[in-house]
Amino acid sequence: MHFFPGLLVGFGVLTIIISIFLNSKVTPVLPPASHFPANLVCSSGNRPSNSPYFAGWNTWFHPERVSSSGQFREWNILHHLGGNGPWIQRTTPNSIENSLPDKCEVEQVHMLSRHSERYPTRNAGERHLALVRRLKDLEVPLNGSLSFFNNWTYFTQVPERDFDQLTSTGPYAGTLGAFTTGTRFRTRYGHLLPSQGIKTKIWASDSQRVIETAKYFAAGVFGIDWEQMQRAEVEVVPETLDQHTNTLTPGDTCVRYIEDTALGHDYGRNMLAVFQNAYIPLIAHRLVDEENNQAVGNLSALEVYGMQEMCGFESIVRGTSPWCELFTPKEWEHFEYARDLLHYYRGGPGNKYAAAMGLLWLHATGQLLQAGPENGTLFFSFVHDGDIAPMLTVLDLFPDPKYDPHLPVTHVAEDRVWRVSTVMPMGGRISFERLRCSGSDNVSNGTYVRINVNDDIVPLPGCSSGPGESCPLEKFTARISRKREELGGFAEVCKTSGLDTGITFLKQPGF
Ligand SMILES: *[C@@H]1O[C@H](CO)[C@@H](O)[C@H](O)[C@H]1NC(C)=O
Ligand SMILES: *[C@@H]1O[C@H](CO)[C@@H](O)[C@H](O)[C@H]1NC(C)=O
Ligand SMILES: *[C@@H]1O[C@H](CO)[C@@H](O)[C@H](O)[C@H]1NC(C)=O
Ligand SMILES: *[C@@H]1O[C@H](CO)[C@@H](O)[C@H](O)[C@H]1NC(C)=O
Ligand SMILES: *[C@@H]1O[C@H](CO)[C@@H](O)[C@H](O)[C@H]1NC(C)=O
Ligand SMILES: *[C@@H]1O[C@H](CO)[C@@H](O)[C@H](O)[C@H]1NC(C)=O
Repeated sequence: MHFFPGLLVGFGVLTIIISIFLNSKVTPVLPPASHFPANLVCSSGNRPSNSPYFAGWNTWFHPERVSSSGQFREWNILHHLGGNGPWIQRTTPNSIENSLPDKCEVEQVHMLSRHSERYPTRNAGERHLALVRRLKDLEVPLNGSLSFFNNWTYFTQVPERDFDQLTSTGPYAGTLGAFTTGTRFRTRYGHLLPSQGIKTKIWASDSQRVIETAKYFAAGVFGIDWEQMQRAEVEVVPETLDQHTNTLTPGDTCVRYIEDTALGHDYGRNMLAVFQNAYIPLIAHRLVDEENNQAVGNLSALEVYGMQEMCGFESIVRGTSPWCELFTPKEWEHFEYARDLLHYYRGGPGNKYAAAMGLLWLHATGQLLQAGPENGTLFFSFVHDGDIAPMLTVLDLFPDPKYDPHLPVTHVAEDRVWRVSTVMPMGGRISFERLRCSGSDNVSNGTYVRINVNDDIVPLPGCSSGPGESCPLEKFTARISRKREELGGFAEVCKTSGLDTGITFLKQPGF
């Protein structure tokens, strides 16, 4: 009868786990109670699972994960912050189960990731502080939904230390997020870790928050002594103009993009400003006139926008924020759209330089996918959101035949495809998995590429005939070559003076 006490302890633990689940506010999509024990022990690989551990992938998911049966939790602010919020799992109404298709295995993986959760940039942070100072200096209490402000303090007392850097406090700390992602990748791709003695390179663009993200991630994948034991090495790629085509940050080396103040880098900010002036006056009117805050005077578009930004940033530092309660879901959808416009015209389908910029990393990665695991199994690159949008653009992962390349700036296009909130949140990442499949027919026997966006499988439009809606490798690489011919080279589009070498650093020398 040895098993008996163990069984009782097991039941006790199970009861505690079940009660945690039942009391939890983050799991509204609860399965019938009788399903809990089966799901919690996770014995099945293929059954849709509500457990954070899903044996089919031999992996686990973020607590924010929604059920794999495609049901949605209620409206969630974290899905509308346009990149200013913590990492979230991407969900779509008909999400494909991201377990591995039958008879397939991952033999190589490539990731392009944004740095993890950070404080505001200096520029945005200074705007916030100016607003906070102005309101405090009124020396009258604020009324209505702004009254929380009377007892509120900004989320850093040491802005000169914190602005631009990863956050390191609360459940959404950037440090923690990067480490968690590394752990998750180790769980999912552990079989691809090279044997002792082979050092894996990881690439980071030269920005402190990006480098630190790569390092915390490395600790999650390779262990805390990754550097000392020579398991991995972070190679820092300068963000300077003289890198020409050999860069992770093409927006810093594309001369035309920088110099064209109308349709280049600044296009995004200009289009954002147009839409801010369209949606914000109504909100300002509510906050000032309808809520008895006349002493505030006019709230400018940038001031109200700053309040919306602070919801995400404060959450990243403190876990929650009263600014999130200040606006209605409709007003958040306006903010979300504003952020979508910024990226759409800055590095997305609305910007004519974006595709050539995005092609650099995608082309190098396509060649490695073609070369296969003999040239290395793990390729992880860390950058900024402005470097990811161009890659998505040239890949045509989110094409919009109705609007491209003109998303309206006067009103929200509710039926648009381009939505950055679940694609490029802090720590947002796109992974390409090279799958080797050995099915018994021509459709499922071969090599394929599957695209994973924040733990959601996204079929590549026009190329999803493989197992699990993957794209046959040959078609994938042909697609990149075709793009290259259509667009012309980066040097030509961007008017850089250096040689068009493409990216030359993406190599795993140990292989
Ligand atoms: C606001 O702060 C003041 C001073 O610290 C304190 O006396 C007051 O109780 C606080 N009010 C609330 C609602 O927390
Ligand atoms: C809030 O209401 C009080 C009382 O009506 C008023 O004195 C104060 O000026 C109002 N605050 C603002 C910011 O208008
Ligand atoms: C506030 O805005 C209104 C309308 O835009 C303008 O007429 C008024 O002069 C502004 N007041 C201040 C104090 O800026
Ligand atoms: C793959 O490795 C071979 C042999 O080292 C090398 O010649 C080739 O350039 C590599 N391919 C890529 C895409 O790096
Ligand atoms: C699968 O493809 C490989 C390589 O092309 C071939 O050798 C093998 O016979 C194929 N297997 C089946 C079941 O079609
Ligand atoms: C599979 O491919 C081979 C050679 O390309 C062809 O002869 C065969 O008819 C194909 N089988 C099916 C089921 O399509």
